[in-house]
Amino acid sequence: MTRSPRLMKSGRHRSRAGAHYAAFITHAAKRLACKTCPAFYSISKVGLGSGDSTMAIDLSVNGVRHSIDVAPDTPLLWVVREQLELTGTKFSCGIAQCGVCTLHVDGQAVRSCSFPVSAAAGRNVTTIEGLSPDGNHPIQQAWISLDVPQCGYCQSGQIMSAAALLTRNPNPSDAEIDAGMTNACRCSTYHRIR
Ligand code: FES
Ligand code: FES
Repeated sequence: MTRSPRLMKSGRHRSRAGAHYAAFITHAAKRLACKTCPAFYSISKVGLGSGDSTMAIDLSVNGVRHSIDVAPDTPLLWVVREQLELTGTKFSCGIAQCGVCTLHVDGQAVRSCSFPVSAAAGRNVTTIEGLSPDGNHPIQQAWISLDVPQCGYCQSGQIMSAAALLTRNPNPSDAEIDAGMTNACRCSTYHRIR
């Protein structure tokens, strides 16, 4: 890897982060109470799968084979978090927009909130927990040394997107980073990830 993600903080940035976080908490509370919100819909109608009929689905997650009895349209995110208890992969929008739920399927970055578990059957799934055995992947080391996270909520998705990008393009231009790293960050750090 010839290029590392870098991010600098500024006092102005940190002061704005608190306001953004407060707005996020307010919105999260409202959307949980609003049944018309896409996020609520994704949890109640899609996020947990149809549940009408389940089937055994074989998955390899972080090198470990599992057979999960689940509705085939259940998003991979919920199988990873709820059945396998790998909670490093996060949930936010539920509609494949923010990237916080990014993990890898056969090395490709996918937004697991909108990726049916049946599409991962027989394939290799990697979550943030499986990126390295002890958190020493070069991207994780770069993230630590450059003190990238603010609140941290989006960071596993950011790291998984960066890992997939750098695997297919070890020396991306700024434009290629912008195109390949479309994850949102509520603390607004993403504009400065390079
Ligand atoms: S939670 Fe999956 S893209 Fe936002
Ligand atoms: S959402 Fe807080 S660091 Fe990205």
